[in-house]
Amino acid sequence: MIPFLDLKAQYHSIKPEIDAAVTKVLESSQFALGEEVAAFEREFASYVGAAEAVGVNSGTSALHLALLAAGVGPGDEVITVPFTFVATVAAVCYTGARTVFVDVDPRALTLDVTNLERAITPRTKVIMPVHLYGQPADMDPIMEVARRRRLVVIEDAAQAHGAEYKGRRAGSIGDLGCFSFYPGKNLGAYGEGGMVVTSNADHARTIRMLRDWGQDRRYHHVLKGFNYRLEGIQGAILRVKLRRLEEWTESRRRHAARYNELLAGSPVRTPEAMAYARHVYHIYAVRSADRDGLQKSLQGAGVQTGVHYPIPVHLQPAYADLGYKAGDFPHSEAAAREVLSLPMFAELTSSQLEAVAAAVGEGIHAV
Ligand SMILES: Cc1ncc(COP(=O)(O)O)c(C=O)c1O
Repeated sequence: MIPFLDLKAQYHSIKPEIDAAVTKVLESSQFALGEEVAAFEREFASYVGAAEAVGVNSGTSALHLALLAAGVGPGDEVITVPFTFVATVAAVCYTGARTVFVDVDPRALTLDVTNLERAITPRTKVIMPVHLYGQPADMDPIMEVARRRRLVVIEDAAQAHGAEYKGRRAGSIGDLGCFSFYPGKNLGAYGEGGMVVTSNADHARTIRMLRDWGQDRRYHHVLKGFNYRLEGIQGAILRVKLRRLEEWTESRRRHAARYNELLAGSPVRTPEAMAYARHVYHIYAVRSADRDGLQKSLQGAGVQTGVHYPIPVHLQPAYADLGYKAGDFPHSEAAAREVLSLPMFAELTSSQLEAVAAAVGEGIHAV
C-alpha cells in the first residue's frame, strides 16, 4: 500500500521536538493566541517576506478576514477562479459579496489573465488568484491590472507555502496573502490553522481585531468580530515545522522531478511548472482522458490517489445561485474531468516513486 499522504511518518521524524513544544504550551496554559502564536507570526512573516502575519483558526478564516479588511461587503464583486477548493468561494459568500469567475490557464491551471479585464465591473473590489497545487498564478500582469483599475489583490496561498513567483514568496506579492495550515498542507498543524500576511499595517491591525471579537483592548469592541484565534499548541507545533519546511519542500520538488522523468513518454500528462514559478508541489496531479479508470486501476495496485477537484465550483449545487452553467469555463471543466493526484509527501522513498510510476504505466495500458 502506498498512501497518498503519510502524516505519521513526518511526526515520527520530529517527535521529540514536537512533544517538547506541546508540553511547553501545556505548562504555560496559553491555549488561545499567546507567545508561541506571536513568535510563529514573526517567523512566518519573515519566511514569506511580509511585514506582518496574523494567525487565525483556518485558511478559510484567513480569506474571510482578508476580504473584510479590504472592505468587501454586500454589493461588491470578487474575481476568482472556479477550479479551486470551495473555501475560496465560501469566504467571498460570507462577506455578502458576489463571486465572479474567470477561467484558468489550461497549462498552469491558475487564473488566466487574458480573461481578467472583461470580468471587471464598477462593483469589482478584489482579485483573488489561487496558487493551485503549490504553483503561483502569473502575478505580474494581475498586479498590473489591479493597480491600473484600483483593485485589491488577495492571494489564496493556502496550498503554496514557500512557493515563489520570480523569486518572491507567494503571499507577499498581493496586498494580502492567505495560508492554510490544515494538517495535509505543506506546512500543516495538528488541527486547524491559518494565517494572513500583509505589509499593510492598517490591514494587519484590522485583522488582529477581527479574529478576536473586534476588540482593540479587552471587552472594548470597536468592530463586529469573530472567534477566529489560532491556538497556542498549533503555533508551537508550526514553529517546529517551519524550521523543516525548506528541506521538505526540496524533497517534494525532487520527487516531482523524478515522477516527471519516470512518466515521460507515458500517455498521462505531467504537471507543467511555469518558468516564473518555484512550484512546491502541494499536489502532483497528472492528467488522463480516462482519469476514473486510471484511479481504479491504481487503487487495485495499492496506490492511493486523490482528485483535486472533481467538480469546479461554478457547477457545485451550493453555488447554483451564481448563475453559471456547464460550458462557461471549459479549461476548469476539462481539468476537473482529467486530473489525478499521485502520492506526494516529503518522506516518499525512491522505490515508492518507482512503484507509483510503474502502476500508472500499467494502469494506462489496462484502461
Ligand atoms: C485553495 C484553498 N483555499 C482555501 C482553503 C481553506 O483552508 P482551510 O481548510 O484551512 O480552511 C484551502 C484548504 O483547504 C485551499 O486548498
